[in-house]
Parts: sequence; structure tokens; C-alpha cells
Amino acid sequence: MSTVLITGANRGIGLEMAKQYQAAGHQVIAVCRQSSDELQSIQGIRVELGIDVTQVADLIDLAHRLEGTQLDVLINNAGLLVGTSLEDIEQELEAYRRQFEINTLAPLRVTAALLGLLKAGSKVVIITSRMGSVADNTSGGQFAYRISKAGVNSAGVSLAHELKPKGIAVGLLHPGYVRTGMTKHTGHIDPDEAAAQLIERIEELDLANTGSFRHANGEPLPW
Ligand SMILES: NC(=O)c1ccc[n+]([C@@H]2O[C@H](COP(=O)([O-])OP(=O)(O)OC[C@H]3O[C@@H](n4cnc5c(N)ncnc54)[C@H](OP(=O)(O)O)[C@@H]3O)[C@@H](O)[C@H]2O)c1
Repeated sequence: MSTVLITGANRGIGLEMAKQYQAAGHQVIAVCRQSSDELQSIQGIRVELGIDVTQVADLIDLAHRLEGTQLDVLINNAGLLVGTSLEDIEQELEAYRRQFEINTLAPLRVTAALLGLLKAGSKVVIITSRMGSVADNTSGGQFAYRISKAGVNSAGVSLAHELKPKGIAVGLLHPGYVRTGMTKHTGHIDPDEAAAQLIERIEELDLANTGSFRHANGEPLPW
């Protein structure tokens, strides 16, 4: 049995990963700002409420609440997509800052805050997006989200180098185009399918492939 912490676990892909890990017999720590009926209905799950991943006081509080717990898998899943366009950039700067805070900085800050709970053999996962790939950007647009996910990809590679000597592997995973609130329930797959694929990729994550950027379907993605 592993202990798996997931941020943004009250809905979407995070909720589905929480359900599937718990059903497979693992101890899940679901971290979120507020709960949901679906999250509350998962038997045996540990829910840590009131945690905004952009707030240092909340991250310190979370680390205190978890003192003495060892994490096998830390999944930085919480994310935000707000549409932005070139024409409206001056009106949209706050959306850029917010996406940078949540998508780019928060995975680093959460990992730093919880570093003491990780050990050799633990894994840190960042749910990123192929929209953060510069090489794969064939359609443009979505400036803020793309920048924020490209940024977290860079952060993840540095984190992989930083944590390798401690025996901790870091994986950057794109979940696919998933029907959640973020995509207004459009997409190619449902959250349960995305979660199942992500969990398979997390199983495969180790020090030999640390720092890699992969699609949940197993494809390596270009930077
Ligand atoms: N859906 C897709 O097609 C797709 C594609 C590529 C990548 N992704 C990535 O996959 C991850 C999950 O996305 P999703 O589709 O499941 O999105 P979602 O349904 O919109 O869920 C987003 C989750 O992030 C949480 N969150 C946002 N800001 C937060 C904050 N400041 N503090 C704590 N939690 C916060 C939300 O909590 P609240 O309920 O409190 O807002 C919610 O639990 C994201 O990182 C996203 O960028 C998704």
C-alpha cells in the first residue's frame, strides 16, 4: 500500500485519481480548497480541506497536519485555464499572474513544503499539459496557459535534477484532452480513463526516466 497525496482532488482528474488509488487499496490524502459530494463519498479517504496551493500559510499548515506521514507519491494536479488573447493582454494581466501562480509556482511550492515527507523511492508528479510544449505548438493562442505550463515543464526538469540524489523521481504528465470543468466538458476522453492512464504512467516512473514529459497514453512528448 502506498500513500498518495493529490492536490485539486475535489473534482475533475484529481477526483478520479483519488477514487482509483483508494479503490486499489492505497491511502489517499485528498488536498483541496473545498470538498465535494463525490469526494466525501469515497470510503476511507483522508481529506485535507482549506488548502489553496498559492498560499504559503496553507502550505505550512498542510505540512504540520501531515507531520509524521511519509508520502510515496505526491501529485501536483491543481490547475487553472483562463483564456487569453493578444488583443486583450492589458486587461488580462491578472489572468496571466494567476495561472503562473497556480500552474507554474504552486507545484514547486507544494513540493518544497512537503519535501520532508518524501524519502528515497518517492515520486513527485506534475500534471502539466502538452499545451506547454513549444515544439508541439501548432495552433498558437492561449498565451497565459501555454506560458504557465511551459514554465512548469522547466521547473519539473530542474526538480528532477535536484531530487535525483535523494532517490526521488519526478514526472511531467499530460492527461490528454479530458472532459472536465476546465474544458467545459468537451474533450476526447472522460476523467476516469485519463486517471487510469496517468496511474499506469506513475507506476512506470523511476530514477531512470526522471524528468521525462509524457502523454498519459505513454507517448513521449517534445519540449
Ligand atoms: N482537462 C484537460 O483536458 C487537461 C488537459 C491538459 C492538462 N490538464 C491539467 O490537468 C489538471 C487537472 O485539470 P482538470 O481538467 O481536472 O481541471 P478542473 O476540473 O478545472 O479541476 C481543477 C482543480 O484544481 C483545483 N484548483 C485550482 N486552483 C486552485 C488553488 N489555487 N488551490 C487549490 N486547488 C486549486 C480546483 O479546485 P476548486 O474546486 O477549489 O477550484 C480543482 O480541484 C490541471 O493541472 C490541468 O491544467 C487538463
